[in-house]
Amino acid sequence: MSNKFYITTAIDYPSAPPHIGHVYEKVCADIIARWHRRIGDDVFFSTGTDEHGQKIQKCALSSGKKPEEFVERMSKRFIDLWAKLNISYDSFIRTTQKRHEEIAQNIFKKIYEKGDIYKGLYEGLYCVDCEAFYTEKDLLEGICPTHNKKVEKIKEECYFFKMSKYQDKILEHIRANKDFIQPETRRNEIINRIKEGIRDLSVSRSSFNWGIPLPIDEKHIIFVWFDALINYISVLGYPNKEFRKYWPADIHLIGKDILWFHAVVWLAILLAADIELPRKIFVHGFINIKGEKISKSRGVVVDPLELVRKYGTDAIRYFLLREIRFGEDGDFSEDALIKRINDDLANDLGNLVYRTLTMIEKYFKGYVPRAEIIDKKWEQNIDNFSREVDLHMSNLDFNLALDGTWELINLANKYIEDTKPWNLTKENKTEELKSFIRLLVDVLREVADQIYPFMPQTAESIKDQIGKDKIKKGKPLFPRVDLKGIS
Ligand code: ME8
Ligand code: MG
Repeated sequence: MSNKFYITTAIDYPSAPPHIGHVYEKVCADIIARWHRRIGDDVFFSTGTDEHGQKIQKCALSSGKKPEEFVERMSKRFIDLWAKLNISYDSFIRTTQKRHEEIAQNIFKKIYEKGDIYKGLYEGLYCVDCEAFYTEKDLLEGICPTHNKKVEKIKEECYFFKMSKYQDKILEHIRANKDFIQPETRRNEIINRIKEGIRDLSVSRSSFNWGIPLPIDEKHIIFVWFDALINYISVLGYPNKEFRKYWPADIHLIGKDILWFHAVVWLAILLAADIELPRKIFVHGFINIKGEKISKSRGVVVDPLELVRKYGTDAIRYFLLREIRFGEDGDFSEDALIKRINDDLANDLGNLVYRTLTMIEKYFKGYVPRAEIIDKKWEQNIDNFSREVDLHMSNLDFNLALDGTWELINLANKYIEDTKPWNLTKENKTEELKSFIRLLVDVLREVADQIYPFMPQTAESIKDQIGKDKIKKGKPLFPRVDLKGIS
């Protein structure tokens, strides 16, 4: 029996086209999903778009579209980009789909009937860009710290969710499960915030109508976060279908700005609805562009589609995981990307593949030789790297995993230089030469396995080239990129 493994990403607001932060999260999740499939797990990987709420309604309005048309067009841009980036999700959920809306209403109703939702008056502050309520002390003189915009004063009748009731249970759960929220700094941060108190949450709105109607009161719509979080079970067809098999989620992968909603609001919803809690929330860092926060208005953006066109999917996937420590913030710049392509991909990896294949052509007419002599030390080497890299992968230490793979690559490159195969032929040491080549092919197979989650196309191309008795030498995997010459 294989283990089930359910991984989710945040569902993105399609208020604007996808940015590099969205790309980063989906690529990370894809790498985890692919690795789990490779070790034989039965994986379910979900992503999607969060299509209701005031922010979406406003954006639709200002682009002169109906919200329905607007989200239809925008969510397609996410779907198209994920195809280009080889994001291997099993289901893409849109919160405007019927399959989601019905389940969101059911959960709302269930919690209402339990007595955990009551009617009241909300008077307070709201940031439309965050789709979040604030208190004065969260703000800098009335300005939302995330979006640098003035929050709105809201006074409306609405329904409240008795979230405060679950404060102790939530805190207990986070404390009892050391790895529930990772990294640890985020865990500590959230524990401290919870200790300051959890207040009941306004979970309905009536001043606009772009949302799911309350099953108990048609004049209100469900608050967008209450609606959105439920995607994690609606995508599985709660309470039937895949839900039975895949819930609880093994990893909710999210960015640091939405941890409160996941660690507190989501847990409270699940507790109130008597649904098992997820196993882990992993909080990744933020990507800045040349040290600055991504901002459309200030022109601090890169277009992911353009990056894919210029540099290719695998180079971008590799860069994001190699350059940025998982769980920490990181920086994107095209110069750093080009350097990684030239140094790590064209030079280290590309050369190893190319040199090995060239030698097979030159010395063995393109046929991978069979070897009599086995280099025990090298076999052990390959084995050790394999185990080490898998351990890092299972701990979500992607940088360390890639460090390990590159250590193996560079060891093999050095081995070629030290062995000087041209001398072996001169001295007629055919058996040694065979054994040497055989070993390089084994290294390449192992490297292809290890890079597969990060660079699936490249891994397949390597396997394609060395997979049969007769090799199929292709073009260099990664042509060098001229720092100035690309546009
Ligand atoms: O928050 N670097 O949607 P969103 C890395 N719809 N990650 C980033 C980032 C950056 N610069 N900017 C954003 C939402 N993210 C909600 C989620 S889930 C039930 C609902 C991450 O489009 C962000 O932290 O604003 C989040 O995990 C994801 O991208 C979507 O952000
Ligand atoms: Mg956001």
